[in-house]
Formats: sequence, C-alpha cells, structure tokens
Amino acid sequence: MYPKNEPNKIVDDKLGFIQNMIDSGEYDVAVKESCTVFEIVFKKIFQQAIVSLSFRERGEILEIERKIGKGTKGVEDFGFGELVGLFRESKLMDKWANHTSKDLGLLRTLEFSSIVNLRNRIVHDGITCSRGEANIVYEYLRNLLAILGFADLENMINKSFSKKEETVANQKDIGGNKDEIALPDIHGLPKVNKSLRERSSYSSSKQDEALRLHLQSKNYEEIDFKVFEHILNESDGEEHLRILDIGCASGHVTYDRFSKMNEVEKVIGIDINREKIEEAKATIKDDRFHFYTVDIEDNNFLETMDSIIQKHGGRKFDWVFAAFTIHHFANPTRALLNLRKLIKPGGYIIVRGSDDGSKIAYPDEYNLIGTALELTQKVAGASDRENARKFFHQLRKTGYKKVEMFYNFRDTTKMNSEDRNNLFQENFIFRYNYFKNRAEKFPDNERFQTEYKWLKDALDEIELMFLDESFYFQEIHYVAIGKR
Ligand SMILES: C[S@@+](CC[C@H](N)C(=O)[O-])C[C@H]1O[C@@H](n2cnc3c(N)ncnc32)[C@H](O)[C@@H]1O
Repeated sequence: MYPKNEPNKIVDDKLGFIQNMIDSGEYDVAVKESCTVFEIVFKKIFQQAIVSLSFRERGEILEIERKIGKGTKGVEDFGFGELVGLFRESKLMDKWANHTSKDLGLLRTLEFSSIVNLRNRIVHDGITCSRGEANIVYEYLRNLLAILGFADLENMINKSFSKKEETVANQKDIGGNKDEIALPDIHGLPKVNKSLRERSSYSSSKQDEALRLHLQSKNYEEIDFKVFEHILNESDGEEHLRILDIGCASGHVTYDRFSKMNEVEKVIGIDINREKIEEAKATIKDDRFHFYTVDIEDNNFLETMDSIIQKHGGRKFDWVFAAFTIHHFANPTRALLNLRKLIKPGGYIIVRGSDDGSKIAYPDEYNLIGTALELTQKVAGASDRENARKFFHQLRKTGYKKVEMFYNFRDTTKMNSEDRNNLFQENFIFRYNYFKNRAEKFPDNERFQTEYKWLKDALDEIELMFLDESFYFQEIHYVAIGKR
C-alpha cells in the first residue's frame, strides 16, 4: 500500500519501477502498474475538478459518479475501469483541458477503454502482453503526466486549476465579468443565460454567522415593516396570508417578522441548510410556522414545493419573502421565474438585500474598506456583492408587475460604539470566510494566501476605524417588491 498523502513520491517511484519492468521483460507488470498511476492521476483530477469547475459541470460529473458507483461507493473506491467510465461519460478530460486551456495533444486520440481491456485480460484472463503494448501504455502515461506537470504532480494539478481562478480575478481587473467566466462549457452553442454565476460557498452554520444574522435582522426591521404595511394597504386589508420565506436559515427573521402580524395564517420557511432547518423546527413552536429543507435551485424544486403546498391545503402563496438569499444563487433568474409560479395571481414577491457599491466610508486613508469590498467581488464562491442594483431589472424581466423599490439609509453619525461595532460586524465579518475557504482550497496559490492574510489584518484595522467617533460610514438597505 502507498501512503495516500505522498502522490509525487508515488509517481516518481512508480515510473522508475515501470521502466525497469519493461527493460526486464515484465510487460504485464508494467501495464498493471501504469494503470495504478492512471488511477492516482484520475482521482486527483476528479478531486480538483469538483471544487474548481462551474456549478453545472460539477453537477454533471457528480451525477455520473453516483450512477457508476450505484450510490454505494464514491470515486475514492472506484477501480480503473470505473474511473475510465466516469471520465469518458462526463467528458472530464475535455472539461479539464477547456478549463485550464491545456492542449491534450495525442491523449485526445487515446481510447482509454482499450487500456482497461488490456489490463483486464492480463489480470483476469492471465494473458501476457507484448513489449509494444506495454510501451504504448507507458508512453501515454508519461504524456499525461507531462501535460499535468510531472515533476510535482499534486502541486501542478492544484495550480493548473487555480490558474482559472486567477484568470477570473484578472479579467475582473480589466473590466471582465466573473459571472460570464463561470458559464459552463456549452460546446459552441449560444449562451442562453448570461446572468448565470457561480453559486456562493456561504454557510449560515459558520461560526458567528447566527449572531451576524440577528444583528442584520434588527437593522432591517424598519424597512421590512414599512414594506409589509405598504403591501397590506395596497391589498385592501387582505387576511389569512400564506407566506413562503426562502432561505430562512434558523427562522429567526421568519418568526420575528410574521408572528407579529395578525393577518398571517401560515408561514412556510425553506432553506438548503438542514442543520438550520432542524434548529428552526426545534425552537419555533407555533402552529402557523412550518420549516423544510429545500434547495431552491434544485431541478425538482417546483415538484417539491407542490407537495409541500398540497400538504398545507393546496393554496398558493400570497407573499414570497427573500431576505438576503437570491445573491447566493447560481441562477437567480430561474429561481425568480420558479417562485412566480408559487405565488397566487395578485400576490407579491418581496426581495431584500444590499449592494457593496453603495457602501461609503470616510476617512479611509489607505483605502482598506474600498479594497476589502473590491477584493470580495473577485473571490470565486463569494455571493453576488452587487445584487441589489439588479433587483428591479431581475423582477421585471421575470414577469413581475408593478415592481417598486424601497430604501433605508443608515449611517454612523448618531451611533454609539456598540451600534458602530454591530454595523462593522454585519458588513465585514462574513467576508473573512470567503477568503479563508479560497485560501484553504488553493494552498499553493500565493496571491490567495496573501489576500487572505491581508484581509485578516485589514479587518482588525477596519474594526478600529468604526470605533473612531469621527469616522463616517453609510449604507443603503434595499427591498424590491413585485406582483404576480
Ligand atoms: C444570508 S442567509 C439569510 C438568512 C435569513 N433570510 C436572514 O435574513 O437572516 C442566506 C440563507 O440562504 C440559504 N440558501 C442559499 N442558497 C440556497 C438555496 N439554493 N436553497 C435554499 N436556501 C439557500 C442559506 O443556507 C442561508 O441560510
């Protein structure tokens, strides 16, 4: 057995060994050993692909992994034949080459299943192979390793994938768009959705996030009730409201807002985070409130929601409420289209969020705040930091009528030190996790490590700036509403 954490040494040792086997006429051993190295390399490429490729591509690959593993085993336990099947069916080599701009060269012409057959005949049927066959397999292996960066396999594979992320950031620097880079390989077909972006890596379970969401909830209470009142006035005293809160996390905002309203008959809260939904079920003991773990971006979202609606009497929702949720989606447009189908005619969608473009600060002598905001935009996996400016367009485009925008301004001028600190926490702390996730994902990427370290230090400085009574910070709260 080879130690799992030393792939480079494994590869070096193996190549020397295989060459020896060919030289000493042990051709079948050389083929079997070459296949073992192919396995190591394929598994490494797979591991890197599922953290680096676009959301849709990853979905395709994982689906095929599930199919081949029959739901009982994952790629780690796949044999050579299964790995080749996975790569062939998911076109993983092409996706990888496309993603990294690598030229596969002769490898493109290689039918890996012929190597699987040769290996199976040797292992299972006991046949011996020729020097020519062993040489071909060995040469293809060396070719693959050369393309990857043979001398430092682990490093090279990681680097070759992180190169893409750097490109994303560089493109952004010159005015490119991260959203467009994240588009899946469409094999020459016209782009159908330019707003498709990478899904955010946010988790509401992260340390301190519950506290931050509580602070945020308090800060946005005023605008929420202003909007609810506006809708209630417009809908002429409508009662028995059924509300769907999407991305409700542990239900704190859900309960805080809707338990106070006599007009509310039933509230369904949904979130992708099972842990948070379980917390909501355990803590909110009110018959009107129900919580479900649901991925709003899942292909079966409408079917799932239909069964939930049926379970609760079959009536569509009067309101759909989305507080700080749609900026995490890969495809907010599709989500808004789907949500519209769950709202009764004349019902409302209420979308709340913020936009880094409207946060201003002075003094910020070294542009720490400006840089922290700007860098967050570029981190692949961060939520859409410019989301609120898109609300009006997104709602109109997806068929909502009477779209209106509501705003609240908030600044530090009358805040005590505790409120100032809360404002800092709410606006900056979550950024840390995006940088941390990226630095951990790409340990060899110097720029990602430097930016992570820079942000850690910058956050300490920014926290102190907020405590200075002459410091000014202002942000805007945004809520958009639209009618079905
Ligand atoms: C920033 S939190 C907001 C929580 C709550 N609405 C609030 O205002 O405090 C965003 C929530 O959206 C959830 N979320 C993100 N993507 C989702 C998806 N595809 N389906 C369902 N929930 C999702 C996250 O799990 C998280 O709990």
